[in-house]
Amino acid sequence: MKLAIIGAGNVGGTLGSAWATKGGHEVFFGVRSPNSDKTQALVDALGGKARAGTAAEAVAFGEMIVLATPWTATGAAIRSMGDLNGRTILDATNPLAMGPDGLGLEIGHSISAGEKVQGWAKGASVFKTLNTTGFGNMANPVFHGVKSVMFVAGDDTAKKPKVIELVAALGFEVVDAGPLRNARLLEAHAMLWIELALKRGLGRDWAFALVRR
Ligand SMILES: NC(=O)c1ccc[n+]([C@@H]2O[C@H](COP(=O)([O-])OP(=O)(O)OC[C@H]3O[C@@H](n4cnc5c(N)ncnc54)[C@H](OP(=O)(O)O)[C@@H]3O)[C@@H](O)[C@H]2O)c1
Repeated sequence: MKLAIIGAGNVGGTLGSAWATKGGHEVFFGVRSPNSDKTQALVDALGGKARAGTAAEAVAFGEMIVLATPWTATGAAIRSMGDLNGRTILDATNPLAMGPDGLGLEIGHSISAGEKVQGWAKGASVFKTLNTTGFGNMANPVFHGVKSVMFVAGDDTAKKPKVIELVAALGFEVVDAGPLRNARLLEAHAMLWIELALKRGLGRDWAFALVRR
């Protein structure tokens, strides 16, 4: 599949590399500086499977769009993407901001980043996913044979199976977490990962998984 990845940093770069190398997908990174050394090195490392350009060029190329921009840049990034009516967006953003207690969520109980993205991306089907673990785990989500879990929340039930398939191709166990409003839960869940990883000493090399009876 042809994928537009908006943002080619920790998350965008890792996801694009994984889909291009493991899943055989073609990726187009949409960034503000496509000719930067960092972005060009990423594209070169992926051979003919990747290219880079503006966000609008990436969106014109991709069958699905992955949003991997810093929260503060996300509104501007979406405005630069052009008409999004009918498009599918996987939103990996978390609404992080510095507060009195350090890094935290800027919004949460009554609205989420996912729902704000839906408001900005008029007519698109937005799915909150790939936000609840560190970027390093997105390259290898399997721990000693156990798949770590990734959730997908979104309202478009017709498009959801394809989104789940794309996320599962990375190696995650994927769970349908219901409608997009449940992004409020997934962004808080992401904050728990960040809290434990960065402030409580767990580091980045662990992930959430499901166990069942
Ligand atoms: N880091 C993690 O482990 C992790 C895990 C889960 C979710 N997330 C979330 O994923 C998002 C990205 O995080 P990250 O760590 O990958 O950030 P990052 O390393 O800073 O990368 C951000 C990317 O966004 C691009 N960008 C910035 N403004 C843009 C715009 N207006 N249009 C297009 N591209 C733009 C930047 O490139 P240019 O400056 O060249 O445009 C850069 O490639 C954040 O919302 C974060 O909360 C992060």
